[in-house]
Amino acid sequence: MLIERVRLRGVLDSRAHPTVEADLQLAGQEGHGRGSCPVAIAPGRRERRRGLRTGALGAELDQGATARLVHSALHGRRVSGQREFDAVLRALDDEHALGADVTLALSLAFARAAALHGRLHLLDWLVGQNGSPPRQVPRLLVNAFSGGIHARGAAASFQQIMTIPLGESLAEDIRTALSVHSGLEEALGDARLSASSGFLVGGRSTSEQLALLAAVLERRGLRGGVGLGVDVAAEHLAVDGGYRFEGGVHDSAGFGALLLRLAGDHGLSYVEDPFDPADTDAWHTFTPRLGAIGARVVGDDLFASDARRVEAGPAHAVLLKPSQAGTVSATLDAASAAASAGLRTVVSHRSGETEDTSICDLAVAVGADHIKIGGPRRGDRIAKYNRFLRLLESPLLAGLPRPPVHPEENQHVPCQ
Ligand code: PGA
Ligand code: ZN
Repeated sequence: MLIERVRLRGVLDSRAHPTVEADLQLAGQEGHGRGSCPVAIAPGRRERRRGLRTGALGAELDQGATARLVHSALHGRRVSGQREFDAVLRALDDEHALGADVTLALSLAFARAAALHGRLHLLDWLVGQNGSPPRQVPRLLVNAFSGGIHARGAAASFQQIMTIPLGESLAEDIRTALSVHSGLEEALGDARLSASSGFLVGGRSTSEQLALLAAVLERRGLRGGVGLGVDVAAEHLAVDGGYRFEGGVHDSAGFGALLLRLAGDHGLSYVEDPFDPADTDAWHTFTPRLGAIGARVVGDDLFASDARRVEAGPAHAVLLKPSQAGTVSATLDAASAAASAGLRTVVSHRSGETEDTSICDLAVAVGADHIKIGGPRRGDRIAKYNRFLRLLESPLLAGLPRPPVHPEENQHVPCQ
């Protein structure tokens, strides 16, 4: 495949922060592939960095020094496929610190251009790169409450409280997500909605939020059909000597006990980033304990979507954020490292998203158990719900099973 032309552009994410979009055209091709990179408010300290070109909008980005480097490395270059293209990007990034926002946007643009070239859908291209057919249709993690660094004035709280619809089909799960969300809006009243995010911001304790969710599920007749999960995002709660949480500071053992209690009391089946990535012993102690009550520990900032960091032991599952990995191939590598280590995978959005919906295709391609795409509000999130509704028409998804409802049915990490 001969790369004819590449163009970088500054676009806005859902919080109106500038990010990178790329268009890429292969020789002999009408049209181009396009990709963009989402933005995190406070990225984990282990992930690949974004470039520092926040001001550039539109074509301004295509005229800067980074674009000149990209043009001279890519224009007229022949590559055999995604892997080789991504290797070129990685080498450029290592040498010139392009940033994961530039490399991911380009990598996704190439994936779409290559799919177009082969008259394939993006999903088919990604499945081809991954080397094995999709094996299941992921379950949604639907954000109900935002806290932590995502909510002003509520920093010492979990970053997300989520529902997990457990239906037979993804379409049914989306209907459930809509019902839960409108049930929450009804219960809270419009005044308590955060107009800017569309998320429901609490001003309540975690226990109160979980109890409110349970009451909404009860009222909507959804009690047995929806699981509950949290993203603790503990890296952002860590202070000297422990973790800040709801007015107190808890040492690691105390925080673990508190999380176990919450999980038991509210029937949580999913706990993401319970500790700081450096708090290794705490992860290793906590994971089998949470596993023993039928819930799963997921590592986000812990593994930073980096294949070299992925290992069994500290968590049951690996969160995959393409913008942490930096390219499509690096994301697929992290997914296969997870599979080799016997870990499950969860594909995730970032808090600032664009209209790019490739995480949906990626989640199906790698056979993820879950995908986090936020609550069913706002264009950037709805675009992902709609992408799934279209993907469900793909022959590749016909007859595929859903992930098991009870995590313990598929627990790989032995309890100690
Ligand atoms: P982030 O959080 O984009 O702020 O890192 C997203 C998430 O973990 O859901
Ligand atoms: Zn997270």
